[in-house]
Amino acid sequence: MKSNKVFIATSLDGYISDKTNGLAWLDTFPEINTIDSGYDDFMARVDALLMGRNTFETVCDFDIPWPYKKQVFVASNSMDRLPSQFTDKAELVKGSANEILNQIHAKGYNKLYIDGGKLIQSFLKEDLIDEMIITIIPILLGGGTALFSSLPNPVIFKCIKTELFLDKIVQNHFVRIKNIEQ
Ligand SMILES: NC(=O)c1ccc[n+]([C@@H]2O[C@H](COP(=O)([O-])OP(=O)(O)OC[C@H]3O[C@@H](n4cnc5c(N)ncnc54)[C@H](OP(=O)(O)O)[C@@H]3O)[C@@H](O)[C@H]2O)c1
Repeated sequence: MKSNKVFIATSLDGYISDKTNGLAWLDTFPEINTIDSGYDDFMARVDALLMGRNTFETVCDFDIPWPYKKQVFVASNSMDRLPSQFTDKAELVKGSANEILNQIHAKGYNKLYIDGGKLIQSFLKEDLIDEMIITIIPILLGGGTALFSSLPNPVIFKCIKTELFLDKIVQNHFVRIKNIEQ
């Protein structure tokens, strides 16, 4: 079955990166990195990742080995090709959200991890997100890259699980409901 899932960390005020595009605030409580907060279980439930160009460029700048074991697709309509050192690690896809999905499904990848604020927003505009696991770091950044933006119509989810980590960090697991009676 096809599905598009999100696993992302936000600030208390809903940002996924700070005013300087930085991610250091993710380590406000670095103990979170020493416990199981569900990432591996989530990754086991997807076939491939689809990330926006900006998120890809952030990952490229990390001074670490390529962090993904699953197939990665990079959405960009401005890039002609990926930098040569990444062509064996990821694949470029172009078009609208639906066109990109069709290309990826045609390659046999159906359960997708959608990553990057603008990309998630464009999927939400087309009602293409089925599941969101959002980990809230309790810090107010006061600005940055927002996870959510305007939508043509409300999109309703139900929360199927909430976990509190380290008595500080809340993680909510939402699934899309298309019929409010469910
Ligand atoms: N907190 C977290 O857990 C977390 C997770 C992921 C990312 N981040 C951070 O979030 C920031 C990146 O997010 P972002 O919102 O700036 O960008 P993004 O969603 O990663 O990338 C947006 C770019 O993707 C391309 N794109 C292709 N198709 C698209 C479509 N259908 N809809 C939207 N974009 C499409 C466009 O690039 P072209 O102009 O090339 O077409 C667009 O500018 C980075 O700072 C990253 O570190 C944080």
